[in-house]
Amino acid sequence: MATTATVKIDRDRIRELTAREESHLNAETGASKRMLKRAQASLSGGVASSYQLRDPWPIYLSRGKGPRVWDVDDNEMLDFHNGFGSMVQGHAHPEITKAVVERMELGTHFAAPTEDAIAVAEELKRRWGLPQWRYTNSGSESTMDAIRIARAHTGRDTIMKIFGSYHGHHDYVMVSIGVPYGAIGDRDNLASLPYGGGIPQSVANMTIPVPFNDADAMERRIERLISEDRKPACVIMEAAMMNLGIVLPEPGYLEAVREITKRHGIVLIFDEVKTGICIAAGGATERFGVMPDMVTLAKALGGGLPSGAIGGSEEVMKVVADGKVYQVGTYNGNPLVMAAARANLEKVMTPAAYVHLDALNDHMVKGCRAVIDRHHLPGYAVGISSKGCVTFSPTKVVDYESFKANQDGELCDLAWLYNMNRGIFMTPGREEEWTLSITHSIDDCEHFVRVFDEMARDLLT
Ligand SMILES: Cc1ncc(COP(=O)(O)O)c(C=O)c1O
Repeated sequence: MATTATVKIDRDRIRELTAREESHLNAETGASKRMLKRAQASLSGGVASSYQLRDPWPIYLSRGKGPRVWDVDDNEMLDFHNGFGSMVQGHAHPEITKAVVERMELGTHFAAPTEDAIAVAEELKRRWGLPQWRYTNSGSESTMDAIRIARAHTGRDTIMKIFGSYHGHHDYVMVSIGVPYGAIGDRDNLASLPYGGGIPQSVANMTIPVPFNDADAMERRIERLISEDRKPACVIMEAAMMNLGIVLPEPGYLEAVREITKRHGIVLIFDEVKTGICIAAGGATERFGVMPDMVTLAKALGGGLPSGAIGGSEEVMKVVADGKVYQVGTYNGNPLVMAAARANLEKVMTPAAYVHLDALNDHMVKGCRAVIDRHHLPGYAVGISSKGCVTFSPTKVVDYESFKANQDGELCDLAWLYNMNRGIFMTPGREEEWTLSITHSIDDCEHFVRVFDEMARDLLT
């Protein structure tokens, strides 16, 4: 996967192209500029979530249909962002739209259980092989509740996560993400660092980070915690990291983590907020064949509506069933969301959908690899079903440390601008990946690869 002999890219050329592309994008997005001015008067920073911020202004969207979105300047773009990976179904899918419209007329919220909530749980149980489910309204709520359940089940407070992994915006997990290289700490003693303001250090200290793809380091840290009488309640992790571009698990790693956590009586939570529904019917759990004690879902589950779910073994979920843990929420299992999720699972994300996504992504990854090889770029393409990325790094990234040490962030930023200026709506940020939808075609993927090739040619002339 890692490239060998690569060209040295002229940094001045990157900056020159970045300036050119930035001014082009600014010229094409005047309505977004005006909208930011209006928004700032009432919406903090002009956006609904800090992840939507962008300098000099965010690109405000107006609508989406199938694989396309339009911004407020009416620029039409193929969507490879897909709502941070939520819209694997494509926009305004007719089956989901129909289910939502039908449900609207029957009433959308009772805070009482409905039949759709049972049907969705039955389907999730079938897909993941985990017997007991509950709902939330977002990925953050899913991971927060899953951790609370694990703590109640084990009677322990300390938790373990992977350094650099994002699991949502609550205090338990806003720890040791996106920090500068020098602040990481040494590999066997990675630092518990609050991510942003307002997170007490005392809370962060309960969350212990360990490096991805290193089961021995995990076990050493667990043993040390045991000797300090701080055995973790759970390990929460993505089976494939989706917040450093994509970092796949090395062969044997997940199996080793499963064995270590089982041996120590630690609850293993696979956070499938990004991988669930998107990379196989049963997410990363199915794809990698390792069974956790719990999974957390959100994003693509609701087909574009705010949704979330937690699945777990009978043993772990007992604390919910017997009332020890209050797993609650006014909108949990909201009928509108459940109608969308049911249509999504039963009629949209079918076995044929995954065959199509795999074929599309193979095309994307092969196409990007061919560009990299042709131009000897320092990077590599990696993908898994609907998700993939080009990682601009001369060596393979296996964890946060190697990502921080090697990723070429300026090239990442330039690639984003090239995409945006050529009809590709792409996830902003240096840690993100593309998400394809079932409405994308091979032609759409070829367009993406052509734009990447154009950037490579421009960089090297
Ligand atoms: C792996 C993972 N877990 C949890 C979350 C939090 O989900 P939400 O933004 O719906 O709260 C995210 C969001 O990107 C995520 O990528």
